[in-house]
Amino acid sequence: MAKVAVTGGAGFIGSNLTRRLISEGYDVVVVDDLSTGLISNVDQERSKFHQVSITDPEALNNALKGCGTIFHLAARGSVPRSIKNPVATHDVNATGTLNVLEAARANGAHVIFSSSSSVYGRNMQLPKDESMWLGPMTPYAASKLAGEGYVQAYSAAYGVPTTLLRFFNVFGPRQRPDHEYAAVLPKWIWLAMQGQAIDIYGDGTASRDFTYVDTVLDIAITAMKEKVLTEGAMNLAYGNRIFLNETIEMLKKHFPDLQVNYKPERLGDVKESQNDPVLLKKLFPSVQPKPFEVALSETVDWLKEFGQSVANGPATVD
Ligand SMILES: NC(=O)c1ccc[n+]([C@@H]2O[C@H](COP(=O)([O-])OP(=O)(O)OC[C@H]3O[C@@H](n4cnc5c(N)ncnc54)[C@H](O)[C@@H]3O)[C@@H](O)[C@H]2O)c1
Repeated sequence: MAKVAVTGGAGFIGSNLTRRLISEGYDVVVVDDLSTGLISNVDQERSKFHQVSITDPEALNNALKGCGTIFHLAARGSVPRSIKNPVATHDVNATGTLNVLEAARANGAHVIFSSSSSVYGRNMQLPKDESMWLGPMTPYAASKLAGEGYVQAYSAAYGVPTTLLRFFNVFGPRQRPDHEYAAVLPKWIWLAMQGQAIDIYGDGTASRDFTYVDTVLDIAITAMKEKVLTEGAMNLAYGNRIFLNETIEMLKKHFPDLQVNYKPERLGDVKESQNDPVLLKKLFPSVQPKPFEVALSETVDWLKEFGQSVANGPATVD
């Protein structure tokens, strides 16, 4: 079976993707420096693991040799982390992406790149589509946009086949629930599991276009199998407008005693985020997203059974 690589394969989305690829019979190479990813997420028996930073071109080239597809997910995530240390974020997310593209060019590999809806930043217009202007507001968003620029340049200048996906709020099994920068859904479920109250900033009328990780995998793997290339970027979210208060009502079905503290809105928090999925449905007509409430239940069940395996990882305090 074809040899494929997943950078960031010890992280949330990358470890789910790696498992799916292995189960479909691919020969999978995992590249991760374990800065936030977990070694327990990596199936070292059925994949080839390289503890390598994407900022080290030589080690990266060696690891990616012979791979026909590179799912590039490794990144220094988290907006607050990038505000604390913009240069480190740039090194990994921009220069690291350039290094991955160089390796792809050498191998004739297809690159599937994970960008972020945060590139829209100051552009508050909703719903989002790919023709809108971009206004990054944080070093994280700027680094992702730099990565997007390099992905498009390598496609145009060197003919590297590329698929550029902008993720919105992805959630699901294996997402870390317990650290300083944890995403809202795993964090809330984790607190609810311990019988602790959850905090909402604002009145709960903020909304998000949540995407289940399985749907992200469906898109990424279809992009590989059918060689779906993007001309520019493609937003990966199905146009859901899921209010935080609505999510809490769904969680109360699992945790009837759930206590909620409403706190003042935080400066800089985006009130709404929603995609217009026209391009997504055109390029990937066969992919059907799982309904949010079903996906949320699966995530609750997973965290109840296996959550401890992704809790207590690296603290990411730098
Ligand atoms: N989860 C989301 O909602 C979301 C939204 C938008 C974009 N994204 C993007 O999707 C990708 C995957 O996100 P995730 O949620 O799985 O994040 P994650 O933090 O769980 O995984 C990222 C992985 O990259 C690894 N990594 C970090 N720096 C590295 C380096 N220098 N070299 C090699 N590996 C390194 C980490 O150890 C980790 O395992 C990231 O590029 C992220 O920016 C995610």
